Amino acid sequence: MNKIIYLDAAASALKTDAVIAAEVDFLQYKYANAGRGVCARVSAVDDMVARTRADVAKFINAKCDENIVFTGGTTDAMNRIARLIDDAFSVDGDSIKNKTIMVSDLDHHSARLPFECIVGRRGCKIVLCPVNAENNLDYSNVARADVFVITAMSNVFGGRQDVARLVAAAREKNPDVITVVDAAQYVVHENIDVEKWDCDFMCFSAHKIGGDTGLGVMYVKNPDYWMSPDKFGGGMVVRITGAAPDNQCRIQWEPAPARFEAGTLPLTQIAGLGAAIKEWTPRCGADVMRRIRQGLDSMPRVKIYTAPDAAILTFSVDGIHPLDFGAMCGARGLCMRVGNMCASWAMRMIDAPTGGVARLSAGPWNTIEDADRALEIIGEVIK
Ligand SMILES: Cc1ncc(COP(=O)(O)O)c(C=O)c1O
Repeated sequence: MNKIIYLDAAASALKTDAVIAAEVDFLQYKYANAGRGVCARVSAVDDMVARTRADVAKFINAKCDENIVFTGGTTDAMNRIARLIDDAFSVDGDSIKNKTIMVSDLDHHSARLPFECIVGRRGCKIVLCPVNAENNLDYSNVARADVFVITAMSNVFGGRQDVARLVAAAREKNPDVITVVDAAQYVVHENIDVEKWDCDFMCFSAHKIGGDTGLGVMYVKNPDYWMSPDKFGGGMVVRITGAAPDNQCRIQWEPAPARFEAGTLPLTQIAGLGAAIKEWTPRCGADVMRRIRQGLDSMPRVKIYTAPDAAILTFSVDGIHPLDFGAMCGARGLCMRVGNMCASWAMRMIDAPTGGVARLSAGPWNTIEDADRALEIIGEVIK
């Protein structure tokens, strides 16, 4: 059987032996729920969760562990952030209806749709952050907004956005703007520094940096400000007084991060994430991408949409539907992403062919030989 060339890191990273071993070890020898008792086994799980939280805080340069909330992934986090912001504006007779939300055409559906839906429901104003000729967010021309959704790296264009400058530019227009960073792709290729970015929220998924699916990280700069949690359940309550039917139920929430982590956490995935972030090296696969770029540049009928130094490579082949192209490459052992990339606005920006585009993205497991074999396969299919 042909060896599979997995050049789809931007969709999800392959897992290392250390990550798999950490999850198996937890499931086989250390399993118990967290925060649900005081026996040694439970305490050891609590310690594992606390250790991973501290490792994540260090990984993104957060001031303290309380800023780190475990979620179900980037999509889950973006939906939750939108709800937290909607709720926060709905106090004292105010409403998000009177606010302006700034998004951009670089956004993934997961980042923009939760806010588009608030706009649809509440009727607030939406504005676009301009994108320059290089397909980067133009920090010199940001509008005044109350909420600013920033895609730190587009999954179509792979450019590194200057998040610190974008946040500063938006604050200059409105010191109270709430800044939300989608770092799902950025985290794969660059070190995140939330202190330097000075954003209010940031999120990413564990599975893109070698961890498991079903787990993400949501950074919250001022967790005490977001008094009203967006999800309710076990593990987040200090005390409840009063009760139905007189509607006098008063709840004292746990401080962050527990206040935002209702219910049982994805513990196995947290064990895996601890191992993943110890191993993950940003800028992995850069040499492989360079080689692929050189090869594709000289191929006939290939149109490339990404800059030479972009972390990923998005392209189309004139005369071949992207789904056919993906299937033909796949049949020869090349695994890559084809379609609209869950980024309809970016597809519109580049006037993408019907069916979308193709995307190649390397991870630490890829070699130069993978690049050469991928080029051979693409060359055969194009012929
Ligand atoms: C830029 C960006 N944002 C958000 C997401 C959504 O991530 P997830 O599907 O892990 O929730 C992705 C996934 O590809 C992405 O590339």
